[in-house]
Amino acid sequence: MPSQMSFERACAIAFSLVSAASLTSAGPCDIYADGDTPCVAAHSTTRALYDDYSGALYQVTRGSDNTTLDISPLSAGGVADADSQDSFCSLTTCLISIIYDQSGNGNHLTQGPPGGFDGPDVDGYDNLASAVGAPVTLNGQKAYGVFMSPGCGYRNDNAVGTATGDEAEGMYAVLDGTHYNSACCFDYGNAETSATDTGAGHMEAIYFGTSTGWGYGEGSGPWLMADMENGLFSGYASTENSADPSISYRFFTSIVKGEADEWALRGGNAASGSLTTYYSGIRPSGYNPMDKEGAIILGIGGDNSNGAQGTFYEGVMTTGYPSADTENSVQANIVAAGYAVTSLVSGPTLTAGDVVSIRVTTSGYTDRWIAHTGTTVNTQVVSSSSSTTLKEEASWKIVEGLGYSGCFSFESVDTPGSYIRHSDFVLLLNEDDGTTLFATDATFCPETAMDGDSSYSSLRSWSYPTRYFRHYENVMYAASNGGVQDFDATTSFNDDVSWNITTAFAT
Ligand SMILES: *[C@@H]1O[C@H](CO)[C@@H](O)[C@H](O)[C@H]1NC(C)=O
Ligand SMILES: *[C@@H]1O[C@H](CO)[C@@H](O)[C@H](O)[C@H]1NC(C)=O
Repeated sequence: MPSQMSFERACAIAFSLVSAASLTSAGPCDIYADGDTPCVAAHSTTRALYDDYSGALYQVTRGSDNTTLDISPLSAGGVADADSQDSFCSLTTCLISIIYDQSGNGNHLTQGPPGGFDGPDVDGYDNLASAVGAPVTLNGQKAYGVFMSPGCGYRNDNAVGTATGDEAEGMYAVLDGTHYNSACCFDYGNAETSATDTGAGHMEAIYFGTSTGWGYGEGSGPWLMADMENGLFSGYASTENSADPSISYRFFTSIVKGEADEWALRGGNAASGSLTTYYSGIRPSGYNPMDKEGAIILGIGGDNSNGAQGTFYEGVMTTGYPSADTENSVQANIVAAGYAVTSLVSGPTLTAGDVVSIRVTTSGYTDRWIAHTGTTVNTQVVSSSSSTTLKEEASWKIVEGLGYSGCFSFESVDTPGSYIRHSDFVLLLNEDDGTTLFATDATFCPETAMDGDSSYSSLRSWSYPTRYFRHYENVMYAASNGGVQDFDATTSFNDDVSWNITTAFAT
């Protein structure tokens, strides 16, 4: 029989084993709680942010029948079950309709409603993000981030437990440091409950992008800044802070925190290493005290300004001002999660350098091929007896994606230097003007054809992953499966976006 002494010793050993185990497996929100600055909102489509969280991470809605599925971690504290999304969304489109709050406060993020600045839809709502635009792996397991095109936005105007007035808070988000623009405002954090601009100090949110309208950092960006409303701040004043660096990390840990007359910006590579402080000090003039309102936004400004783009993987908001030590432990946890890139291509792939012609597969239209007439990209009846001019107009050289090297662009055979791009969701043949906008608008990712034929492909826009090459009344569009435009019609969508990519008429 064990003596009293050895029983106590056994307990002490057992206890130290348990605490060591919970330390190594702790999620970001366990670490914040340990630092007395617990999460009041915790959002991620890639993984659980608490060691014991096994509830739903996010909800997807599929285009085929509008039904929904909650995606949960594979195990408590683990990575999202991407396979369940893949099978639910097979041969249709899927949107991320809810990003659940893991904190227990019910601070879920849903489609952004109309605000001071209206969304792109007829009803002023923001768009939902595609569920497939941002695949990644976490320690080798596939998961999906939230790839947000301009017009996308999520919000919760009735959040519970978030900082209001001049109360202290912290927040971090893991973002794609290579997906951004200069428009207002790719934000995550605290904003107005009315979705209108109620003045300086009514927000405190992470901003990421290349806006120079207010503050900015070193070099040409993109930069982490704090959106405090009526201003993006890289430091004390609404000017340059040379200690706020241009970010080139693929995965970027961004931190904003604020308390009475003090705030800070910190950041680092989410895949390795530690955090750097870009600013820590007093509030800008006119922002002390703050007047935070406590709503939560993602991908938009406080007034619903939704011109920005970016990708969100995970993020939290805390109560209290987290210590640097706590944040450094959170960064170590993020690095240990093992974020890495994975292919955006599924189904038959394309090969840069090949020249192809692309045939319609919708019944009744299969004698038509993707061609162009001037800058209009359309479908035309083409055959081996067509003129050389028409054959060349219906032939396309595959090149590495101008905007993302993992996908592809389509260069005209008869007009080298011109590529298929979308503009207002109409496909055009335009000369590459060298801009980032052109490059991203001209980049498309092949995936398994929506009609289920394994020898066909669908061609998804890289920059608007809800949208696909679609023929509609013999004109080509970047169309979504349902939407405000005629060419977004759900009728025959799957057939209209499925293509037979085959030997070219002309090289
Ligand atoms: C899904 O819902 C949208 C919006 O209510 C509607 O326009 C569309 O027709 C629905 N699609 C299906 C397949 O029921
Ligand atoms: C694709 O188009 C080519 C050329 O018209 C044709 O030979 C081939 O059979 C088509 N593939 C399928 C799977 O329909």
